[in-house]
Amino acid sequence: MENIVFREATMDDAEEMISYLNIVGRESDNLMHGSDGFKAPVEAVKRRIQASHESDNSVIMIALSDGKIIGRAELAGYPAAKLHHNATFSISVRKDYWNMKIGTRLMTEIIECAKKMNLRNIDLEVVVDNKAAIALYHKMGFTDIGVYENYWYANNTYSDAIVMQKCLDESK
Ligand SMILES: CC(C)(COP(=O)(O)OP(=O)(O)OC[C@H]1O[C@@H](n2cnc3c(N)ncnc32)[C@H](O)[C@@H]1OP(=O)(O)O)[C@@H](O)C(=O)NCCC(=O)NCCS
Repeated sequence: MENIVFREATMDDAEEMISYLNIVGRESDNLMHGSDGFKAPVEAVKRRIQASHESDNSVIMIALSDGKIIGRAELAGYPAAKLHHNATFSISVRKDYWNMKIGTRLMTEIIECAKKMNLRNIDLEVVVDNKAAIALYHKMGFTDIGVYENYWYANNTYSDAIVMQKCLDESK
């Protein structure tokens, strides 16, 4: 962990982020983009990173080892004014680095950012058999709020997902 750098992504990370997303997509069935690859052009990824950086309810954090991205977590804030205090969370870590607390550190950083941005809720969905992610989310204070039936389709199979929330409003 000593040599791993954690920081917010910048537009200069766009190309490396595309390479990273193509690698992790092949390593897990639990990500939106799978073995078919992550196909967005570099300019689109740059725009997304910049929009996230400029927004007051979103952030993209990365973990780097020797200049290579090995983990990524994103808080994507809801754009509508009445939902602006909510954001959706997503995360991935390169398989070679699983169970080394990279995910824990990325989530810790993201939750700190969410608090600084005065968000009230972070939500996410996780496929019911994704034990590592469920363990991580529960450890970081997320609670189950329901089941989204047939949410995920991978390997010709529909799977349910657990919907989770972390409430950042300390009065609740
Ligand atoms: C989920 C993911 C981000 C976790 O990253 P990570 O860096 O390995 O996370 P950490 O090491 O910080 O924590 C993993 C936790 O899961 C636990 N865990 C791992 N495998 C487990 C299993 N089969 N059953 C129960 N717990 C498990 C670990 O013990 C650890 O908990 P601990 O810190 O209390 O010991 C990573 O596995 C990943 O990228 N998976 C593929 C993409 C994915 O599923 N993303 C989430 C989509 S919702």
